Order: sequence, then structure tokens, then C-alpha cells
Amino acid sequence: MDGNGRWARARGKPRHAGHRAGVESVRRVIEACGKRGVKVLSLFAFSSENWRRPETEVKLLMELFFTALNREIKRLVRSNVRLRILGDVSAFSDRLQALIQKGEQATAENDGLLLQVCANYGGRWDITQAARRLAGEVQAGRLDAADIDEERLAGALSFAGVPDPDLLIRTAGEQRISNFMLWQCAYTELYFTEILWPDFDQAALDQALADYARRQRRFGRVPEEEEG
Ligand code: IPE
Ligand code: MG
Repeated sequence: MDGNGRWARARGKPRHAGHRAGVESVRRVIEACGKRGVKVLSLFAFSSENWRRPETEVKLLMELFFTALNREIKRLVRSNVRLRILGDVSAFSDRLQALIQKGEQATAENDGLLLQVCANYGGRWDITQAARRLAGEVQAGRLDAADIDEERLAGALSFAGVPDPDLLIRTAGEQRISNFMLWQCAYTELYFTEILWPDFDQAALDQALADYARRQRRFGRVPEEEEG
């Protein structure tokens, strides 16, 4: 989700107005995904690198995360959305950590859209913590290093057990992954749009899905019509 700041600047507003509009956009997209039968939606809300922003902006983003989550939990429960927060949440305030736990518990039994919000998350952080955990298992004598294969490593990542994403959408014109789901995006279709995140609406989502539907995914194979 990129472009909140530019959205605000284009309107002569402060950056936090853009973040606020971005939260509304999140709500719209969650609802739209639910209606369209999307099984998993993963949102990159706050990266491990976002701490480098000015202190006031970081503080505001934390506040916004808290108020939005606090306000939306009931709606998520009602909409049959299962919420998971992924990332190193230990860096957040106790009150935000408690709210995250509350949100996850309240929606744990839901079996509709799985909503994964990545907060203080980074793809490299995730691979590193998985490696550290597996190394600990080896050190403790519970695991043979030779048994560490792709499946085992994938199982130690934050997204364990969830299918890899089919489509990655990045808004606001930047054509980068920016440390998002590095392991999981190996065969993900990438979609870039100039639309700023606060302007990303149902029509924009449908456009992305239509574009995805036209792609041919081969996962390293040759096209079907050229097989044997
Ligand atoms: C994305 O919008 C929101 C977060 C990373 C929290 P930006 O804040 O990156 O917006 P731009 O890139 O300045 O337009
Ligand atoms: Mg940005």
C-alpha cells in the first residue's frame, strides 16, 4: 500500500490525512475481496524499515493502527474475516500488542477471508528469524541440519501453512518489492499501478484481477500447447 503521502500532498494536506484516507481504502478493499471470494489478503502496513521515518509520523501511524483496529474488530468478526498480524510485534506498545491479540482471538473461528496484516514485517526479517529458529533446533539436537529443505524452511516462516500469493499489487507507480514476502513471491504475478493507495477502489481491484486473469502461469514449465 503506497502513495498515502503523495495523495495528501496533491491535496495540500499533511501526510497524516493521507494515512487516514489509506485506512478507509483498506476497509473498502477488505470488503471488496470478501465479496469476490478472495481467500487470502495480505497487506503490507508497516515495514521493518518504516521506523526510519520521522518520529512524529511513526507515532501517528501507530496511533492510527490502534484506533483503526479498535474500531474495526467488531466488523471483522461480523464479516467472517480471520485476522492475523505478522511481523515482529514485540516492538509495539503493550497496549497495541494486547489489542492485536484481542483482534486475532476474536476472529480466530472465522472461516471467510484470511486477512494478514504485516506490521513491523520484512521479508528478510522473516527468513532470518526462521533460520535462527531452525538453527536452535539443530543446536538442541532435535533436528538434523541435513533435513532442512525448502518445505522445512517455509514451515518456519510467518506465513507457514498459507498458500503463496497468486498476485502482488503495488500502488503509486513504484516498481519494487521493497522486502515484502520475499520467499513467498517466487512465482507470484506482479502488478503495478499508478493509482495512489487512498484512491485504490473496487474498480481498481477489478482491473488488477482482470489483468491477472489474462496471465499465463507456468511455474518454470513450458506452455501447455507445447508439451510432448
Ligand atoms: C504508504 O504510503 C503507507 C505506509 C508505508 C505506512 P507512503 O507514506 O509511503 O506514501 P508516499 O510514498 O509518501 O506517497
Ligand atoms: Mg511510499
